[in-house]
Amino acid sequence: MARKKIAFIGAGNVGATCAHLCFLRGLGDIVLYDIIDGLPQGKALDMLESAPVLGIDANVTGGIDIKLIEGADCCVVTSGSPRKPGMSRDDLLKINAAVMTDVGAAIKKHAPGAFVIAVTNPLDAMVTQLKRVTGFAKARIVGQAGVLDSARYRTFLASELGVSVESVSAMVLGGHGDDMVPIRSYTTVGGQPVERLVGAKRLEEIEKRTRGGGGEIVQLMKTSSYYAAGAAAYKMVEAYMLDRKQVLPCAAFLDGEYGVKGLFAGVPVVIGAGGVERVVEIQLSAAEKAAFDSSVAHVRELVEAMDKVIAAGKQG
Ligand code: 2OP
Repeated sequence: MARKKIAFIGAGNVGATCAHLCFLRGLGDIVLYDIIDGLPQGKALDMLESAPVLGIDANVTGGIDIKLIEGADCCVVTSGSPRKPGMSRDDLLKINAAVMTDVGAAIKKHAPGAFVIAVTNPLDAMVTQLKRVTGFAKARIVGQAGVLDSARYRTFLASELGVSVESVSAMVLGGHGDDMVPIRSYTTVGGQPVERLVGAKRLEEIEKRTRGGGGEIVQLMKTSSYYAAGAAAYKMVEAYMLDRKQVLPCAAFLDGEYGVKGLFAGVPVVIGAGGVERVVEIQLSAAEKAAFDSSVAHVRELVEAMDKVIAAGKQG
C-alpha cells in the first residue's frame, strides 16, 4: 500500500515545523510548497537527509510548482503574510484573502480529495475563504487555533500548579482573537475542576496571558509562534491520518450548533478519517455562553470586513 501524502502549502516556520513532526512520526510522504524559490527545496532535502540517521523511509520533496500537491490526502495551509509593523488588519485581510483564493483554487484542482487544515491568520476569516473557494464540505475543512490556545492555557496552569502538562485538560473556544474563551467548566487538573485549585484572580491572570499568548511570542521573537503552532497543526493531521477520533478544539463550520449558522468558530470536534466527523456540543455556563457569543460576533465582523476588502479589490 502506498504511503499517504501530506502537502504543506507554505513552507515557512509553522509549515516546516508541522511537516517535520509529521515526518518524525512517520505519518506519510511530505511535500513542501512555497513561492520562495529554494526554500521548500532546501528544507525538503535537509529533512530527507536526516532520514538515514533517524531510520525514516518516508519521502520528502519540495518546490515552487503547486502541482506538487497533486493527489494529497491532507493539505496544511500556512501560506500568506504575517502581520508586519504598520500593517492594518484590513491590509492583512486583503493580502491573505487573495492568497487563500489562489490556494483554494489549487487545492480544488490538484487535491480534490484532501482534508484541509487552515492555519493562516486571521484564521477565522481565512478558513472561511478557503471553504468558499474549494467548495469542500464542512467535514473536509477545518481551522487550527483552539489546539494552540488550549495548549497555552494548559502550559500556564501546569506550571502554576507544579503538575505535568498531561494532567491538565483544557478547552479554549470561540474565535482566534483577543476574546477567545477559556472554558473553565471543562478545564480540569487531574480530573478536578480548575476553579477548585486556582483562585479566581489568579485564574483571570492566567487566562489573560493565554488570550495574549500569540502576541507575547511575537514581542519576544519579532515573529509568530511556530513550535507550538506547528505542534497544534500536527495534532490535527495526526488525528486525521491515524483515524484517532480525538476531541480537539478547532475552528469548524457551524450549521446551527451552539446557535451559530454559516460561520466558522472554535468548538470541540471529533477528528478522524472522516475529517471533522462531528461537532461536540458541550454545556456552557451562562457566562461562558455569553463570552462565546461575543467572540463569535467578532468572527462575523471579521468575515464582513474581509468581504468588504475583497469587494473593494474587485471594483478597483
Ligand atoms: C498564535 O496565536 C500566530 O496565531 C498564532 O501564535
